[in-house]
Amino acid sequence: MSEALNVAVAGLGTVGGGTVRILHENADLLARRCGRAIHLCAVADPRRHDRLNDCLDGVEWLDDALALVEDPNVDVIVETIGGSDGIAKKLCEAALKKGKSIVTANKALIAHHGMALTKIAEQSGATLAFEAAVAGGIPIIKSVREGLAANTISKVYGILNGTCNYILTEMRETGRDFEVVLKEAQEKGYAEADPTFDVDGIDTAHKLAILSSLSFGCEIDFDSVHIEGIRSVSATDIQYADELGYRIKLLGIATISEKGLVQRVHPCMVPLSAPIAPIEGVFNAVVAEGDFVDTVMQVGRGAGERPTASAVVADIGDIAAGRRTQTLSVPLKDLKKAPPVPMTEHVGEYYVRLTVVDKPGAFADIAAILRDHDVSMEAVLQRARDPGEAVPVVLTTHEAKEADMAEAVKQIHSLDAVAESPCIIRIESF
Ligand SMILES: NC(=O)c1ccc[n+]([C@@H]2O[C@H](COP(=O)([O-])OP(=O)(O)OC[C@H]3O[C@@H](n4cnc5c(N)ncnc54)[C@H](OP(=O)(O)O)[C@@H]3O)[C@@H](O)[C@H]2O)c1
Repeated sequence: MSEALNVAVAGLGTVGGGTVRILHENADLLARRCGRAIHLCAVADPRRHDRLNDCLDGVEWLDDALALVEDPNVDVIVETIGGSDGIAKKLCEAALKKGKSIVTANKALIAHHGMALTKIAEQSGATLAFEAAVAGGIPIIKSVREGLAANTISKVYGILNGTCNYILTEMRETGRDFEVVLKEAQEKGYAEADPTFDVDGIDTAHKLAILSSLSFGCEIDFDSVHIEGIRSVSATDIQYADELGYRIKLLGIATISEKGLVQRVHPCMVPLSAPIAPIEGVFNAVVAEGDFVDTVMQVGRGAGERPTASAVVADIGDIAAGRRTQTLSVPLKDLKKAPPVPMTEHVGEYYVRLTVVDKPGAFADIAAILRDHDVSMEAVLQRARDPGEAVPVVLTTHEAKEADMAEAVKQIHSLDAVAESPCIIRIESF
């Protein structure tokens, strides 16, 4: 067997801790599969994590992660500290410059600085690997970059945030509203104390930007992702979705065509017949459409200590075994610069929920505004009500342009009979 690969882990929280545990528990299996041992030589974290004591016999413990870069014994540094800037970025830049390979789970870092880091890696010949950054335990990076290498991929989409999927599932199953379910998810550890990145769609957007670059061979372009989260989804909308034959999912959707690159993150009404519709709870699902393979869907746990560490260790295993690929599917110089298609050009079907006071002619006014903006209604759901009472009116539309729809809804909102801000959810027909 060849010489062992010396690995150091920086950041021993959830993912770093899981990585240390797998390297310890599955050491023999990994050595057989990689043709050489993977030796954990050092860890760096300012805080001692006693729960890992049984895995850290003889492993050097440093407080300063940057010291790992200068350690000549370290071949690979696992960055599991987090954050798009600060120490994580500094560590990755310094290590790659020095020719040391980086394995990271940090989607924020790759979404924002993946291009610059890839450049450094290409110059020094080091590996930059980030399987764990997208969809946790699902090996989706390998899938699109290697498994689907024979295909032109034109669309990639999925449920990329387990926290949001868990909240939407709970809301549907219990009929409770967003805030209540979010609070419970925080108590159970399924949502962070600051849930912004998850529930506002930013985490999904980070992952989508990485996924679309790898799938389409274009530059990572996080800034052009259209991002909406799930805070505005109400229990009422979830009930209506059920009634209309849909599930509400927060999806990241990317497509590429002659028009350019579409990257959008927002709640979607997905027909119950779609393969992605029954993916519930903390699970993730990613679908890629290739010209030869057709549709491929992968489902699994998108976060958590063990699934995410599984992906981290798969990357370490590739380095140990000497398996090399282009960081972003093709060399940096060959990546396409795809112009972003603005969301206003989106064409699709819509679900619209209005709160309308029952007044003579109210509905005729709404219908006229929609007609004037080329929006044609597909179905209308209206409960019985007493005159003067405000009740929900739900309508679905045929295909319409986003810009027309937005203008129509703005005008509808200004009607006296429309009591609250209309709720719009895009319908996706997969
Ligand atoms: N958790 C998941 O399920 C998951 C899934 C996919 C990807 N990720 C990504 O994985 C990364 C790590 O996430 P995590 O959930 O494992 O975070 P975490 O539990 O907060 O772990 C981060 C660890 O890094 C330590 N740390 C802070 N500053 C450090 C420094 N200067 N040097 C060395 N260590 C330092 C932290 O210590 P303190 O606690 O004392 O600050 C903590 O122990 C993030 O980029 C995240 O987006 C996480």
